[in-house]
Amino acid sequence: MWYVLLASSVACVLFLTVTEAAIIRLNCERSNDKCLLKNIYATEDDRFKEIRNERYENIIEFFDCHIHTLPPIPYINKVKADAINLVRIEENTFSTIHRLDVSYNRLREFSPKAFEYPAELVELNLNGNPTLKDFAFLSKLSGLHILDMADMKLELELLDSNIFAEMSHLSRLNLSDNRITTVPVGMFAPLVGLTYLDLSRNSITKIASGAFAIAVTHGYEEYGLYHQKLHYDLSYNNISIIENNAFTHASKINLRNNKLIGIGQYAFDNQTALQSLDLSGNVQLKNFDFLHNLRALHNLDMSKMNFSFDGVPRNIFDDLDALTALDLSYNRIADIPIGIFAELQSLNFINLRHNKISHIEFGTFSMRKYDLIDEIDLSYNEITNLNFLVFVPLKYLKTLLLHGNEISHVNAKQLTRNKSLYNFGIQNSNVRCYDLIDLLGSLKLVHEPNEFVSNLPNVDGIKCQP
Ligand SMILES: *[C@@H]1O[C@H](CO)[C@@H](O)[C@H](O)[C@H]1NC(C)=O
Ligand SMILES: *[C@@H]1O[C@H](CO)[C@@H](O)[C@H](O)[C@H]1NC(C)=O
Ligand SMILES: *[C@@H]1O[C@H](CO)[C@@H](O)[C@H](O)[C@H]1NC(C)=O
Ligand SMILES: *[C@@H]1O[C@H](CO)[C@@H](O)[C@H](O)[C@H]1NC(C)=O
Ligand SMILES: *[C@@H]1O[C@H](CO)[C@@H](O)[C@H](O)[C@H]1NC(C)=O
Repeated sequence: MWYVLLASSVACVLFLTVTEAAIIRLNCERSNDKCLLKNIYATEDDRFKEIRNERYENIIEFFDCHIHTLPPIPYINKVKADAINLVRIEENTFSTIHRLDVSYNRLREFSPKAFEYPAELVELNLNGNPTLKDFAFLSKLSGLHILDMADMKLELELLDSNIFAEMSHLSRLNLSDNRITTVPVGMFAPLVGLTYLDLSRNSITKIASGAFAIAVTHGYEEYGLYHQKLHYDLSYNNISIIENNAFTHASKINLRNNKLIGIGQYAFDNQTALQSLDLSGNVQLKNFDFLHNLRALHNLDMSKMNFSFDGVPRNIFDDLDALTALDLSYNRIADIPIGIFAELQSLNFINLRHNKISHIEFGTFSMRKYDLIDEIDLSYNEITNLNFLVFVPLKYLKTLLLHGNEISHVNAKQLTRNKSLYNFGIQNSNVRCYDLIDLLGSLKLVHEPNEFVSNLPNVDGIKCQP
């Protein structure tokens, strides 16, 4: 196999012989600000002549290569050496370098002395190197802002717990698609500059107290709440328990598609401005007491949770003063208790698509304080008869979507009584064409994406009963 590869590459590389180690000359092919090194095949025994970068190009990029050991790299901004079957990075490979991409190789060895000036490195992409096990080289990379370590079969408990100790400037850390089952408490604590931690697609089962206690330095305090930008992606894991004080600072937490059964009431620090929480797809979660401590929450996604209001305390949403969007779609909601949304004084959009709602009562969407609701989506429920007057008191309601219900007539007079309503969705229903015509004067009939009926009786592409 090797012989075939080598033999076929003779033409590309000067001075290469099949049987002995060679000294390979690396000549840049210039393209924009890049030095392209193409079609180089080098085994473990080959050595290189230094890359001559006389025109001081910005980037060195290896293209269509097969190189066992990376050649010495002169002063450069960026090296792109992905998917070249790289196995080893030796001592003194780099002098000054800011960005390095060695993703999707077969790295086994990365010398802790590879960098002459390790603190100069800002970006490192190690994705897709499942054979790399010794990460001692990371400890000197104190200037890193972006570190990608996805798709590497990593398990955090097998790593040195001080692996991130010097990375106080690190902003983005990608550990998705690994084999992480536990998050060792304290491991992430030194990352005080963090803004994005991607741990999605692992096998994490529990978030212990303190696991994400990171005292980030880039926040500010306002009205007793600490605001910062810190996004956690923990989607597609196996998390069932989140203990109290698991998270201190966070602006956005994605817990989509886990196996949550319990979230501690104080899992999220109540002094932090958590703005977005995605709980979608956790069908077993039944206790929502933790919502009472999320005063700054803007977006709450509780879709696909097999959720209904049966047995849920009436005050479930009462402390979500800042909530603007509530997603309860794809659940099992049949009845909406009157007043359940009454304290959501900032709510703009409520999504109730794909539930089992058959009846909307007067006052269901009334707000005690401000009434800011501007979109209600009740599509794909089981509504047959609707008193359109229930929406009249909603001063700012601009969009009402009722696609896919069994509504047979729409009372245009009632519906348009309040002039703020502008968009109306009634596709996939049995409404009379006559009713739709009546609506046209004052409302815009909106379609579902990519649905426009043209081969059946319709008004503006909305199917109707003639
Ligand atoms: C992390 O890496 C994976 C694999 O390359 C990628 O799909 C994902 O988008 C990355 N996450 C972030 C936040 O960049
Ligand atoms: C999640 O846990 C179940 C057992 O509880 C296991 O069968 C499954 O493979 C796990 N999934 C992942 C992604 O680790
Ligand atoms: C914040 O949480 C603590 C418990 O960690 C609790 O004692 C305190 O009353 C909470 N403060 C507010 C304003 O909810
Ligand atoms: C959803 O909840 C119902 C009622 O509690 C239960 O019978 C059903 O098994 C649940 N479905 C899932 C997918 O958990
Ligand atoms: C819309 O509703 C509000 C609140 O009930 C009311 O004050 C306003 O007059 C209504 N507008 C129209 C045009 O009926």
